[in-house]
Amino acid sequence: MKKDLVQDFQRVFDTNEGPMRFFAPGRINLIGEHTDYNGGYVFPAAISFGTYALAVKRKDRYFRFYSANFPEIGIITSELEDMDYCKQDDWANYPKGMIKYIREAGYEISGGADIFFYGDIPNGAGLSSSASIEMATGVLLENVFGLDIERLEMIKLGQQVENEYIGVNSGIMDQFAIGMGKKDQAMLLDCQTLDYQYAPIKLDRYSIIIINTNKQRTLAGSKYNERRRECDEALSNLQAELPIQSLGELSVSQFEQYQHLIDNEISRLRARHAVTENERTKQAVRKLQAGDLAGFGQLMNQSHASLEQDYEVTGKELDTIVHTAWKQPGVIGARMTGAGFGGCAIAIVADDQIAEFKQQVNQVYKDTIGYDATFYTAAIHDGAKKL
Ligand code: GLA
Repeated sequence: MKKDLVQDFQRVFDTNEGPMRFFAPGRINLIGEHTDYNGGYVFPAAISFGTYALAVKRKDRYFRFYSANFPEIGIITSELEDMDYCKQDDWANYPKGMIKYIREAGYEISGGADIFFYGDIPNGAGLSSSASIEMATGVLLENVFGLDIERLEMIKLGQQVENEYIGVNSGIMDQFAIGMGKKDQAMLLDCQTLDYQYAPIKLDRYSIIIINTNKQRTLAGSKYNERRRECDEALSNLQAELPIQSLGELSVSQFEQYQHLIDNEISRLRARHAVTENERTKQAVRKLQAGDLAGFGQLMNQSHASLEQDYEVTGKELDTIVHTAWKQPGVIGARMTGAGFGGCAIAIVADDQIAEFKQQVNQVYKDTIGYDATFYTAAIHDGAKKL
């Protein structure tokens, strides 16, 4: 953690009190994209970038929020009883939403607090900075006010903030990965039943490289909700003959047998992605557990192709990075990660080729897109916690 955050907290809120400190990571998804809201599997992991939150309880019923990432916005103040969404409160709507829904779930928040946030997740990179703020706020409220919130309930409240308060119809993957993450482990989550298992990520002589397109994206403004609607439409067509509740219940061969039921060609493509991606995710985890890293990488590549062609959420920036990555020596696999429409890709790269990889991929990216990509080595870390 940046050493001076405590001092920054004390300066911003003009106090000598020592704050409690919390951290919630961001996440990458190794495979299983746009499957969570289709009742399928995802395979994400929490990363070392994330959100720091520092807090001191107040004697009154006011919450004051400050983000070191948006100093120009300054301190935002809200009364405990008035946590409704307010456009001009900007980023602070995420913690406000958590406070509101945690109270509505029956937890007693006994007063106000001063809360200072600092995030080192690149802004708009699709590494779940919003779910990270939600979960940081959740563990903070839990500890500062002595609440005992089941982690899964906190995860669901975070998703509720995103869906109902912010208005993005996202699935449960991000809050789950951030709430449940474990060092050096990814999580295979069945989004229908919420059964999950950890899988160690031990990549001898290889690293996961995160490549940021630096193309700004916001989920709310994107076509995310449209994709969800298209999948729902495909599902309801299929339900005319199949007793299924989600696309995640279909095998690839069942899908092929019944896909003619889907009226709209576009919805059929979207559903095909959801079904094939679900199958790839299950296979990929088996490959990883069997030590077949090459097989895992091939499934990552197929995942990207499906997101590009059937789901159409990649775009020129992500495709340039991923297609270039595929051609580099030492690359096991590469794909976009997260919602798409810009944001980040990930690649598994041999440690002794990383420098060359970055140089080559950035060269092509810059020549094609006109500005640089940014590269980070992913470290897989614990989920949201008190520091
Ligand atoms: C975003 C959403 C997740 C998930 C991914 C796509 O990150 O928040 O719920 O749908 O996109 O896999």
